[in-house]
Amino acid sequence: MARIVTFSGSVRTGSVNTALLNSAAAFVEAAGHEIDAIDLGADDIPIYNGDFQDEHGIPAAVEAIAARVGSADGLLIACPEYNGGPTALLKNTIDWITRVEMTHFAGKPIGLLAASPGGGGGGHGLGLVTQIFTYMRCDLHDETFSLAKAFDAIVDGAVAGDESARLNAWVDGYVAHFAG
Ligand SMILES: Cc1cc2nc3c(=O)[nH]c(=O)nc-3n(C[C@H](O)[C@H](O)[C@H](O)COP(=O)(O)O)c2cc1C
Repeated sequence: MARIVTFSGSVRTGSVNTALLNSAAAFVEAAGHEIDAIDLGADDIPIYNGDFQDEHGIPAAVEAIAARVGSADGLLIACPEYNGGPTALLKNTIDWITRVEMTHFAGKPIGLLAASPGGGGGGHGLGLVTQIFTYMRCDLHDETFSLAKAFDAIVDGAVAGDESARLNAWVDGYVAHFAG
């Protein structure tokens, strides 16, 4: 059994990205693996600034998140798209974790997902997040999962219908990383 850490780049109430992530996590659990869901809204983590780190060190909340990420067997990350890129929250989280340990993400199977209300499905943001994790030599799942028209596809907080079946198939491909 693998332990998969999840986090979402949106902490908005009613976030479609978090709903997508939670639906994917349910399929991971159904496949017999453990989910460790990190809520990035649980603590007020400052925007990274080297002066802050010099003065105060690494915040305890960041150390705790980094420890969970560093000991994970894999990661599932929901990547909302703001102006064609990742949210500041997501990038800031990645940057802080690499200040704890540069190699925390390296070599880990990472699955990237995005949802957007429009037709693009967050594809531009996924492209840039892919670029970031490729730079960090991560074992990215070869396909990202993109959910367009998310307010139609998500019903009662979960991905529904045909999109649910498509997500299940994508998760099956991702968990194949951990088979055996
Ligand atoms: C500052 C800002 C920029 C946005 N830029 C994009 C964008 O480039 N592409 C897109 O598809 N949606 C964009 N959106 C709409 C978001 O996809 C939408 O608000 C979505 O619901 C955010 O994800 P969440 O529901 O997980 O919080 C933007 C929203 C905000 C607030």
